[in-house]
Amino acid sequence: MNPILLDVDTGIDDALAIMLAVQTRKDDIACITTVCGNVSLDQATENTCKILEFMQADQIPVYRGSESPLIRKSHYEHRVHGQDGLGGALKEFTAKKQADSGFAPDRIIETVMERPGEVTLIMTGPLTNLALALLKKPDLVKHVKEVIFMGGVVKGMGNVTPVAEYNTYADPEAARIVLQAGFPKLTQVGLDVTRQTLLTEAHIERLTIPAIKDYVAQSTAIYIKRYEEMNGVRACALHDPLAVGVALNPDLVTRNAYYVDVETASRLCDGQMVCDFQNRLGHEANVLVCEEVNQAAFLEQFIEALNKPIGA
Ligand code: BDR
Ligand code: CA
Repeated sequence: MNPILLDVDTGIDDALAIMLAVQTRKDDIACITTVCGNVSLDQATENTCKILEFMQADQIPVYRGSESPLIRKSHYEHRVHGQDGLGGALKEFTAKKQADSGFAPDRIIETVMERPGEVTLIMTGPLTNLALALLKKPDLVKHVKEVIFMGGVVKGMGNVTPVAEYNTYADPEAARIVLQAGFPKLTQVGLDVTRQTLLTEAHIERLTIPAIKDYVAQSTAIYIKRYEEMNGVRACALHDPLAVGVALNPDLVTRNAYYVDVETASRLCDGQMVCDFQNRLGHEANVLVCEEVNQAAFLEQFIEALNKPIGA
């Protein structure tokens, strides 16, 4: 299979995305890069190393990236992900694994250029690292197989402001750079679809490996609580795992090509993703927007992956 690179700001659902990737495509993960987002860069990196060691995948290299958004102040989401970003799970687990030396944007460029045309980038945090890579090497777009990013919302409400999703809100300038860069295949996995892939306590009951079941139950407890408070449904959205799911099984979603931009200069709407569904602006499409998802198939794939023996 083709190599994949994950770029993460490891909070609760990024961790689940890493677990899904490790359980299904461990040998294809070229490396994981970290970015400041839900939590600080240090915390995101520590969480990533912890999850990899927990999943017996500590051979996968981890590279630290940007400590802040391109020009804005960091906006952490402790209310959603807890103080440590993992909802307090794996507190007693001290990972030996450390990040490798190398700066994430450089490692993104190097990983892509080692296998031109083959690498899929899966981005589950603010797009700062990829934007920095593009600022350094704009023609990178020609050499990437596909970018799949979790971010934005094109029809519904935001989850940080009334209109903005977290990843595009946290670094809207970076999101704009990525959207305008000219990637031949740039897939957006937004709240429109991730709010349909809901993990419930009944799903967690179906996990068969005790260590994984305990971890998922513990880490998602505050995540479910917060989702219930905000949305009235006792569940949590598998935002970042769905981005991995789309890479594993493209048929899970229906994607349509549109021109998409992100607001960066507004009093109320910074970070809002704007999708030109009717091509009113007359621009060429730049994004494949996921408009429908087979939620049942994805949830089955997710549970099945987590029920495989760890480290197999
Ligand atoms: C996104 O924001 C973060 O809180 C999650 O990890 C996910 O990447 C959802 O809006
Ligand atoms: Ca994330």
